[in-house]
Amino acid sequence: MNTVIYQIKDTIEDAKSLTEAGRIIREGGLVAFPTETVYGLGGDALSPASSRKIYAAKGRPSDNPLIVHIANIEDLEPITADIPEAGRKLADAFWPGPLTMIFRKSEKVPKETTGGLDTVAVRMPSDPVALAFIREAGGYVAAPSANLSGKPSPTSAKYVIQDMDGKIEMILDGGDVEIGLESTIVDLTEETPTILRPGYVTKEMLEQVLGTVDADRTMMEKDTGVAPKAPGMKYRHYAPKGDLVIVEGDSACVVDYINEQTGLLEKQGEKVAVIGTEETKMLYHAEIVKSVGSRNREETIAHTLYRVLREFDDMDVTRIFSESFDTTGMGQAIMNRLLKAAGHKVIHLCRSTNSD
Ligand code: TXA
Ligand code: MG
Repeated sequence: MNTVIYQIKDTIEDAKSLTEAGRIIREGGLVAFPTETVYGLGGDALSPASSRKIYAAKGRPSDNPLIVHIANIEDLEPITADIPEAGRKLADAFWPGPLTMIFRKSEKVPKETTGGLDTVAVRMPSDPVALAFIREAGGYVAAPSANLSGKPSPTSAKYVIQDMDGKIEMILDGGDVEIGLESTIVDLTEETPTILRPGYVTKEMLEQVLGTVDADRTMMEKDTGVAPKAPGMKYRHYAPKGDLVIVEGDSACVVDYINEQTGLLEKQGEKVAVIGTEETKMLYHAEIVKSVGSRNREETIAHTLYRVLREFDDMDVTRIFSESFDTTGMGQAIMNRLLKAAGHKVIHLCRSTNSD
């Protein structure tokens, strides 16, 4: 298949291309598009055949449900069985934006889209290109992240092209995304709203609107013996080609350990890369050292993490060491993705007595 790649130019030409993209969806095809979190791989959410095509293009198991993207709040009611009060409050506070809510679904949504579940995940993104595209497409676009299953989600069109060229009808290139990690998912079908996947909208932000909010305990731990409620969270996601280990402890200990290991491994012919920060990048001896951002500005780390993992893949890195990050605020989303990418491999080192 020939994939048309259209670069958003902020001119009148965009409108024509967005209409064309919408037509592709209404006729049962697939279009990748930018959102503020990561790029999505869109199809008609109300068509079983379109959802099957999405699973095929991604190489994704079909028991892993898709998020339905809408562009108008009035479009929520027809696809849900009921909208709890909490849903209305969260929509008021965070839509359009990086929050996905799980509702009980209506008949309108096929089981192919929800991976066989009676619930549906819904999000209204804030990216203006995404909103215009969804409207042109008829209002309901099912979209997982636009990566091949098991790869980091794409944060720029370059990586969508790498994974999807030749497999889908069109790619809308809207440049770099704003946030860089997938949306927060909150389940509203439970008695207490429960976070299934952490993201830019933090637990604290949700609690300000709702009061008490739970978090699925499978989110940060491994081998809890409990199945995660978001089926997608059970798969080993975001896996780089190189063997990734997170090194946790006092900064000085972490730097010493990583440098020592780097020396040994490079002698054995391994291609070693380090994920550091603006504060530490100059301290590492490895041939490849990348800063993911500043510890004082967590949003920079969220924005860069997936890109750096993809760059290491491009360079055929065989071993990766990453610093660890605080799990407060957005740090929880960052560590959730990093732990998954590392298959939960964490090395704990010394901590000096005056740190906690
Ligand atoms: O930021 C995002 O959410 C991006 C952009 C494109 O909007 N999309 C995204 O989709 O990350 P995806 O398919 O990569 O991740 C969706 C997650 C999966 O872990 C899936 O299992 C979960 O949402 N999910 C979807 N529907 C669900 C449902 N009804 N109940 C529980 N989990 C659900
Ligand atoms: Mg994904």
